Amino acid sequence: MKKFLLALALLSLSGIALANPFPKGNAQTGQQLFAKYDCSSCHKGKMGGDGSAIFTRANRTVSSPDELLVQMERCSGAIGKSLSGQEKQDLAAYLNKTYYRFK
Ligand code: HEC
Repeated sequence: MKKFLLALALLSLSGIALANPFPKGNAQTGQQLFAKYDCSSCHKGKMGGDGSAIFTRANRTVSSPDELLVQMERCSGAIGKSLSGQEKQDLAAYLNKTYYRFK
């Protein structure tokens, strides 16, 4: 019984880890950073509307959590900003929760 419970506990732990690729990120902070860095400014020009279609378009470029981090670096580099590790986690948590839903 003990072993069974332990296995169950481990399973549920790994389930939590799998369900969120950015466990150190805070999605709410990420949303604020997204506004602070005016992330949608270029996306609006490219996609129209509020720009969020860039994250949901059929041919979107990001297809994994790692690619999300890389693309955010490219974008912030384009405006001469360098995101801290924590900012990247927060932004990624926000974008993942809202659009990508990587597990
Ligand atoms: C200088 C203009 C510019 C700014 C500012 C900008 N982006 Fe982007 N972003 C782009 C362009 C252009 C693309 C599309 C690239 C492509 O089609 O390959 C893009 C694409 C993306 C994608 C990938 C969408 C997909 O196809 O899956 C993510 C994620 C992203 N941006 C995040 C951010 C974040 C976070 C910020 C704010 C820190 C930001 N961007 C600011 C220009 C910008």
